[in-house]
Amino acid sequence: MYVTINDLIKTYRRRGKIHEVFSHQTLEIQPGKFIAIVGRSGSGKTTFLHLLAGILAPSSGEIRYDGRLISDLSEKEQALFRNEKIGFIPQGNCLLNNFTVLDNVRLPLYLKKQSHQVAKELAEVERLLKKLNLHDLADEYPKNLSGGEQRRVMIARALIQKPKFILADEPTNDLDDLTKSEVLNLFKSVNQTGASIVMATHYKENLAAVDEIIQMTPTEA
Ligand SMILES: Nc1ncnc2c1ncn2[C@@H]1O[C@H](COP(=O)(O)OP(=O)(O)OP(=O)(O)O)[C@@H](O)[C@H]1O
Ligand SMILES: [Mg+2]
Repeated sequence: MYVTINDLIKTYRRRGKIHEVFSHQTLEIQPGKFIAIVGRSGSGKTTFLHLLAGILAPSSGEIRYDGRLISDLSEKEQALFRNEKIGFIPQGNCLLNNFTVLDNVRLPLYLKKQSHQVAKELAEVERLLKKLNLHDLADEYPKNLSGGEQRRVMIARALIQKPKFILADEPTNDLDDLTKSEVLNLFKSVNQTGASIVMATHYKENLAAVDEIIQMTPTEA
């Protein structure tokens, strides 16, 4: 997927005052690019990823996916587009607590397919669970997992549909050094299959793998 970001501005209103998170962000993301977003806490990394995922609307400027504006799609089309085309790993926990690890990872498949088709994809789900060292936890519920285990479940869920565009918000948070490098290796291998990745990160070690580093600098108030 070819993504273009043109003159993007995002402002929030706080106590009646306009707070500009970042302004005039322009970027081209060619298919297969691996980009890191760095910057201090509060500099706008999460906001930027939410704009890219279409979860937030820009205050002005535009984002195009293969030439198409996401804002031209209906809300339902946007949700389908997000589910099928974008693998999103959020910064916070967004697992469904009443679903097991296995079902959380399979959720994107259920949203677009019949149950019997999902059953056929079990092998792929199991492959990913193994790769992320989660296979023993498949029947466990999120509340019984550690922070790092929950994070890995979110990574598995984001990758289950082999998306061509992956947005990862601090994907290696809460992970020990070995797991961090395993997650990064998984990203690298997904990247080598042609997927683009935009990853917000605080970890310098993650930067060696990427093609480009974008520094977020907050706009002065
Ligand atoms: N819904 C909102 N309303 C008002 N201000 C917001 C809202 N969401 C974020 N902000 C502000 O926008 C700025 C950027 O936040 P953002 O979460 O994008 O930062 P970040 O770079 O991801 O930080 P971190 O490294 O801590 O995750 C912050 O000052 C934050 O307080
Ligand atoms: Mg953030």
